[in-house]
Amino acid sequence: MKSFSSYLRVIVLVAIAVAGTEYLMETEPGQWAVLEYPFAGVFIGIVIIFAIAIEASLASLKNVLYQALSEEGKERYHAAETAKASKLEQKWESFMQSMTKSKEIEEEHEIILDHNYDGIKELDNRLPPWWLYGFYATIIFAVIYLVRFHVIGDYTQAEEYEREVASAQEEIEAYLATAEDLIDVDNVTFLEEKDDLKAGEKIYTANCVACHRADGGGGIGPNLTDEYWILGGGIKNVFKTISEGGRPGKGMVAWKSDLSAKEMQQVASYVLTLQENDPADGKAPEGEVWEEEE
Ligand code: HEC
Repeated sequence: MKSFSSYLRVIVLVAIAVAGTEYLMETEPGQWAVLEYPFAGVFIGIVIIFAIAIEASLASLKNVLYQALSEEGKERYHAAETAKASKLEQKWESFMQSMTKSKEIEEEHEIILDHNYDGIKELDNRLPPWWLYGFYATIIFAVIYLVRFHVIGDYTQAEEYEREVASAQEEIEAYLATAEDLIDVDNVTFLEEKDDLKAGEKIYTANCVACHRADGGGGIGPNLTDEYWILGGGIKNVFKTISEGGRPGKGMVAWKSDLSAKEMQQVASYVLTLQENDPADGKAPEGEVWEEEE
């Protein structure tokens, strides 16, 4: 299997096998199925071995047949091979000629212009078709572009930008929906969306009212409606308290094993909205007034 085409066949076959495996098997973006799943790797290995084996047997079969030929036959075989090669060469050359329309150096006297600058002469070559067709293509492109964006006004660059940002935003949201535990104390933000606050309220009602009361006035736990905080106010501190719990022995447990990071973010945001409440019989303030640092 020494010929160039047999190497090529092996490479193409293996490439198809790899592409097919990657297409058919589910992997996370950025992962290779061949590396991720042992049997996919084994499959590719088998394909490689088979491809090489087939090429090797074909080559040796050819060799055996060649050796069996008479001297005359061998010569005929060589002649046929050379003819095949020169035919290919001819085809390539006529293709190049049709794309460049260049004149042979012997024919250049036909197209030489009759001026002469200190021995520098000019040839009146035809524009090479490959270049000319490209030039026509740009003209057609320009006309379509002009009509589409300057006459009809399909969309503006600003709109295109908005659209791309919006679709990127969607992708980010889809990503965060599957990877919501990426939220932590350092990057948690206050959620303003109604849906999130509704979800937060639900979680609060289900888990927290027993100690903090529905209006946040407090009971076993401290009042959540005043500006005094034992463990610090603001979304980051509140998230941390909910996630890690209060001081030992006080009764506020860590919720991180019961609630997802997203849920803790929602309920923390909801807790901060309780500041608007002003329950008449709320628990006396505990801790200190908390101010957001700049
Ligand atoms: C078993 C009763 C109990 C439950 C249930 C409870 N808490 Fe608490 N919570 C407490 C106590 C007690 C403290 C005070 C902790 C301390 O002093 O260290 C507290 C503190 C807090 C604080 C900090 C208040 C401050 O002044 O710093 C927040 C915020 C809070 N709880 C939110 C919640 C949320 C949200 C839930 C529901 C997911 C919840 N708690 C469930 C008892 C409870």
